[in-house]
Amino acid sequence: MIKVKALLIFLFFVALPVWSAAETECGTLEKCDSFESNVHDRNSLQRGLGLYKNYCSSCHTLRYLRWNRLERDLDIPENILVEDLINNPQVKTSDFITFGLPEVSAIGAPDLTLRTRVRGEEWIYTYLRTFYEDSEQITGSNNLVYPGTAMLHVLGGLQGRQVLDQNGNLEKVGDGTMTTEEYDAAIGDLVTFLAYASEPARITREKNGIFVILFFIAFTAVMWLLNREYTKDIK
Ligand code: HEC
Repeated sequence: MIKVKALLIFLFFVALPVWSAAETECGTLEKCDSFESNVHDRNSLQRGLGLYKNYCSSCHTLRYLRWNRLERDLDIPENILVEDLINNPQVKTSDFITFGLPEVSAIGAPDLTLRTRVRGEEWIYTYLRTFYEDSEQITGSNNLVYPGTAMLHVLGGLQGRQVLDQNGNLEKVGDGTMTTEEYDAAIGDLVTFLAYASEPARITREKNGIFVILFFIAFTAVMWLLNREYTKDIK
């Protein structure tokens, strides 16, 4: 009996980190907004890359990803890659994606290749949607997920103006060029692209996984039939 009790206590402590992980807070929010990326949606990845190039590449590198890997995985035509995305004769397609930025950013913008793994997709998805105007900050804006963040709300023109109401909730007070739904979808594309960047092999890994499972199902069926055939005479 004591053994069972000890086992239960042991299992409780093993499971504890799992429960607490599920309850992690999202900055000042109780929890992050739910979001799950689909790295198999190539159009979404391409839209995410476009946004990244236009709005993020002046500060954040992707230095663990190579241009030609991006070209292959996202099906980008060579001329668009070289002329529109790389746009620098000194950079080869086999180079890592640094956008010509120094290794250590002067303003402290981290490399974003692995950030979705560190923070989680939902954290970044919520972070990019919860900027609000705050005159006490040097940047003029603040963030619910990352209070006091040094990053400007670079997508403010798309999202529109947000402030905090008396209860500390976000309130939209000015329109951007996108509706709220369009903006959420655009951030979804951006986070999907970042999730891909953190693990490009996920595209093939998940596809292969389905084949492996189908193979096991077919293999089990064959083995079961074979077993039935072999044991027929024994019974
Ligand atoms: C003007 C420069 C600048 C631009 C442009 C910019 N950022 Fe940032 N970003 C920063 C800085 C600086 C930080 C560090 C903030 C801090 O630690 O307080 C940061 C932090 C972040 C973080 C949090 C990283 C972490 O885990 O701590 C994410 C995610 C992020 N940026 C995503 C983006 C995305 C996506 C874009 C494009 C839409 C973008 N940023 C555009 C400057 C920039």
